[in-house]
Amino acid sequence: NASPAQPKRETNFVKVMEQQGRRVIIFYGSQTGTAEGFAARIAKECTQRFGVSCMTADLELYDLSYLDQVPKDKLVVFVLATYGEGDPTDNAVEFWDLVTEDDPAFSESSDEKPLSNLNYVMFGLGNKTYDQYNEVSRRVNKCLLKLGGNLVGEAGEGDDDASMEEDYLTWKELMWPAFCETLGVDESSARSGPREPVYAVEELLEYEKDDVYFGELAEKVKNNAKTIYDAKRPYTAAMTSRELFHGADRHCMHIDVDISGTNLSYTTGDHLAIWPTNNETEVYRLASVLGLTDKLDTVVMVKAIDPMAPKKHPFPVPATYRSIFRHYIEICAPISRQVLNSFVEYAPSEEAKANLTRLATDKDEYRMQVGDACRNLGEVLQLVTGADTRTGLFASVPFELVVETIARMQPRFYSISSSSKESPNIVSATVVTLSYKPLPTPQRTVYGVNSNFLYRIHMQKGQSIADGQEHPIYDLAGPRRAYLGPDGQCQKVPVHVRHSQFKLPRNPTVPVIMVGPGTGVAPFRGFVRERALEKRNGKPVGTTLLFYGSRNQSQDYLYSDEWPELFETLGGDSQIITAFSRDQAQKIYVQHRLHEHGPKVWELLQKGAYIYVCGDAKSMARDVNQTFINCAIDFGGLTNEKAHEYVKSLRTTGRYQEDVWS
Ligand code: 2AM
Repeated sequence: NASPAQPKRETNFVKVMEQQGRRVIIFYGSQTGTAEGFAARIAKECTQRFGVSCMTADLELYDLSYLDQVPKDKLVVFVLATYGEGDPTDNAVEFWDLVTEDDPAFSESSDEKPLSNLNYVMFGLGNKTYDQYNEVSRRVNKCLLKLGGNLVGEAGEGDDDASMEEDYLTWKELMWPAFCETLGVDESSARSGPREPVYAVEELLEYEKDDVYFGELAEKVKNNAKTIYDAKRPYTAAMTSRELFHGADRHCMHIDVDISGTNLSYTTGDHLAIWPTNNETEVYRLASVLGLTDKLDTVVMVKAIDPMAPKKHPFPVPATYRSIFRHYIEICAPISRQVLNSFVEYAPSEEAKANLTRLATDKDEYRMQVGDACRNLGEVLQLVTGADTRTGLFASVPFELVVETIARMQPRFYSISSSSKESPNIVSATVVTLSYKPLPTPQRTVYGVNSNFLYRIHMQKGQSIADGQEHPIYDLAGPRRAYLGPDGQCQKVPVHVRHSQFKLPRNPTVPVIMVGPGTGVAPFRGFVRERALEKRNGKPVGTTLLFYGSRNQSQDYLYSDEWPELFETLGGDSQIITAFSRDQAQKIYVQHRLHEHGPKVWELLQKGAYIYVCGDAKSMARDVNQTFINCAIDFGGLTNEKAHEYVKSLRTTGRYQEDVWS
């Protein structure tokens, strides 16, 4: 019940478009912000290049049953990510349910073709390593067409695994002419003149100290109302950690965060979102190229000047340059060709200009030096000046360009490795530090942003990591967001919980077969602990099989100290079956063990067992899927075709669940 004092927000987007004079609305179905970012780019081009007034909109905030009332001279753009196993993102669920229904309930028409007035554009984001590639945009597109909608241009598809940026650039160049034709916009009059900034940045000389943001992710709460934490307002939770193994090039941590006393809750199998902090090396690198090193603690205001801008402020402001670099934007991400192009005019020399132009226009050169080499903005700007390390070479870059072109910081998600029944307030994650040497530049090491941030917190100060480089958590200068207690024991990180569909069967007597090599074992620690708890509480629990793999039994066997007691509690034929890939000459992987235990696996499946697979999507999850098919052939006597159908039907009935990443 909305209190009478608050005006109700208008959810009829057609009305909002009319009121605000927009011709185009760009809806995004976004989970981690990528689709939202593409929606913003389309919006920018729409207004700046074609002079067409538009707005971006979170699908969740509007009632899409008004799609049947969009007048013909307007246009709706959908930017839809597919998430997990062909699922819509959380904010797109309602829309998905509406359009995929047999007889969708639109606002007025009961017509066969209720959407015959609708002009729409479709761009989908997916990942080819998953089975259901771009399932959401494909299915929605099919439904909209069936309902009479008119698709403008081709439906675009981006592959997050390989070529998202290129897919987008190729698609949009063909989409715009169709867009112009539909709206009657003269394409040739499109402006390509000077860039028009969306935001204005102002350095503040006077400000209230309490108003300044140092990395808080949501507006400060001024009244005493009980704070509700969620994805838009993460909770800064106390974190403790211990090292599970410590290798030459990687470290694995068990992390516990405390959510007691908050509204946050989880159930076993959910994901923990952790918001990273960029490392100081990259903060200083970018500040240095941009000539901002001496101004890091200057307080700036960032405000939208374009009335069409989707948001008044891109992140909480006023804030210091330092906190923007540390907390608010993804300065470590590889930079796109399009963005590089917008920096060309600020190059300090003809040579740098030529170098930058080449990277921005030559796809192969770009891929070698930036994409595959995983270079961020600071690194590319250094590279094009021939590694000239003088500060301020790109000092003429307006800061708003940086704000507009670098993505906002996004949380990283981890499969929760605790059981909510056993530990409702302490949420665990199992995190391995990521670092690698990109093929084109093998002398460089690229570090995963969040895993190394957590490791630095774990180590509490600037201990050297992998390559001996110092990465202090925070430079001593400047106020800080995160908190290190005086005893050095307590650290805090911003978190929230994302609920997932990856769930144990409700009835604990149903057998489960889990496959989780490496940190893919995370959710299964939660699953096994939960089933052992049920058993201890006197409930009957079905067979629990865990296939686990790592490199060496003696070095990276995760939670090896916990399994014996847990499986002893479970008893019967429950067991952990291990595959140590590097303990012998030939590789042994979880799928090999799975096939060796084929007769048992088949028997359990006949008893209604659920299958769970977690870990690497690209090769492991596929190989494991194939192994289940092989088991059905070799031990169940099915034909190849029937075996495929069988495994597929396990998936559609929720008995084959995956929590995989690439
Ligand atoms: P490897 O690195 O020795 O090849 C956790 O990462 C474990 O998964 C490691 O033992 C790793 O072995 C193994 N692994 C690598 N590729 C795999 C695949 N396609 N299927 C199953 N396990 C794999």
